[in-house]
Amino acid sequence: MFNSVLTTHLEKFIPRYTKRTKTSKFLKQNYHQVLADTQQSGRFGNFNLSFKEIYYPIVGKHSLGSKLWDVDNNEYIDVRMGLGINLFGHNPYFIREVLTNQIEKGFQLGSQSQLAGEVAELICELTGMERVTFINTGTEAVMTAIRLARTVTGRDKIVIFSSSYHGHFDGVLAKAQIIDGNLNIVPTAPGIPNSIIKDVLVLNYGNPQSLEVIKAHKQELAAVLVVPVHTARFSFKLKTFLQELRKLTKESGIPLIFDEMTTGFRIHPGGAQAYFNVEADIATYGKVIGGGMPIGVIAGKACYMNAVDGGVWNYEDDSYPSAKTTFVAGTFCKHPLAMAAAQSVLEYLKKEGPNLQLQLNQRTSEFVQTLNSYLEKNEVPIRLDSFGSAFFFYYLENTVPTVDITVSELMELFRYHLIDRGVHIVGSSNYLSTAHTEQDINYIIQAVKDSVTELRQEGFLPRISCSNMALI
Ligand SMILES: Cc1ncc(COP(=O)(O)O)c(C=O)c1O
Repeated sequence: MFNSVLTTHLEKFIPRYTKRTKTSKFLKQNYHQVLADTQQSGRFGNFNLSFKEIYYPIVGKHSLGSKLWDVDNNEYIDVRMGLGINLFGHNPYFIREVLTNQIEKGFQLGSQSQLAGEVAELICELTGMERVTFINTGTEAVMTAIRLARTVTGRDKIVIFSSSYHGHFDGVLAKAQIIDGNLNIVPTAPGIPNSIIKDVLVLNYGNPQSLEVIKAHKQELAAVLVVPVHTARFSFKLKTFLQELRKLTKESGIPLIFDEMTTGFRIHPGGAQAYFNVEADIATYGKVIGGGMPIGVIAGKACYMNAVDGGVWNYEDDSYPSAKTTFVAGTFCKHPLAMAAAQSVLEYLKKEGPNLQLQLNQRTSEFVQTLNSYLEKNEVPIRLDSFGSAFFFYYLENTVPTVDITVSELMELFRYHLIDRGVHIVGSSNYLSTAHTEQDINYIIQAVKDSVTELRQEGFLPRISCSNMALI
């Protein structure tokens, strides 16, 4: 189970890491009995005994701009950025101000939100959608968007694409798996019944054959749900595929749903729809628009959104909600804090215009290029991939040569080294925000270089020319 190079290194590294972050570790241990928590706990069978002593999340105490301070007063340049929420960094003044004001006024749940109409109008203005409804998380937004599409089309089957995360609604937690030579659609985790995903088709993103499958099932499909940029590989940007998907779904009368949870308002004020110039029928948003408050948004063409409330009707005439409706609900929907933060985010984005995203995307691209040239020049088989201001590190090959360590162990070790050097980073998507300064970016670059140097001295990351390596 243990390999010698990793074990020898961890014997030195773990005491250093746990000394620096001792209160985070103490809190994990102290409340483990009562707190069942997925965060960094080695779930889904990923529990690696080698890393057991450092399986605990960094506990944040305070944050501002690009920085996070943990309970041991360690300072980090944060690139987790609230899992993609904090486009403007932590606690920006314009959101803090409206939230403080709203707290003074109280939370009027149960009566209508004073801001919901204005926020809906701003979303329509920035995204080009016709109507909007509010929910509490991205997961709920995706679940409800699918329900709306099923209501309007009267069909059940949906298409999703492999390796695209859409949140934790049972109805999308499906994957394609070959069993006894046959392709099956199976749940991605225990506890999800087969029956709930029996109407889900999981296809390959970017593969022309997927379009053929959609064509073959067009009479049965209630929706095609797509994360416009493949979650597992950002550089896999397939504008042509998206355009073909749009053409095909339009011709076939299948609603196209863009899950814009990570791209919405971040890649462009109009999200991936504007970036790729592809118009969806329904789009789901969350993260950035909530300015740190929990929110989910479903926006779309009126013909789909009318399934929420029956459509628009007027007073003093004979109009009425004539569209077929479904069930949409939630105690916390349009929470005054979420509405206040969203209004502030949207007004700020509107005032700044697309240059805000353009400049941030450009800075991220330069950061990624700088590190990639360093890694290439030094024959380190790690690279960064990015889309707009989102980026992640990946290993160039399927196996790690010469050292008995798996790719996931090596990348995990690399990430722990970055955290140890004051970069708060996650193994998947990380983000730059408008609050990150040149100094912050240089700090991250130096932390990567120092981590590579130390890992090399310890026998990891042997120099290998990457020119002949195949991308995994
Ligand atoms: C593309 C996508 N869809 C849906 C979700 C789920 O959003 P939430 O975590 O707010 O439920 C996520 C979350 O990361 C996401 O990335």
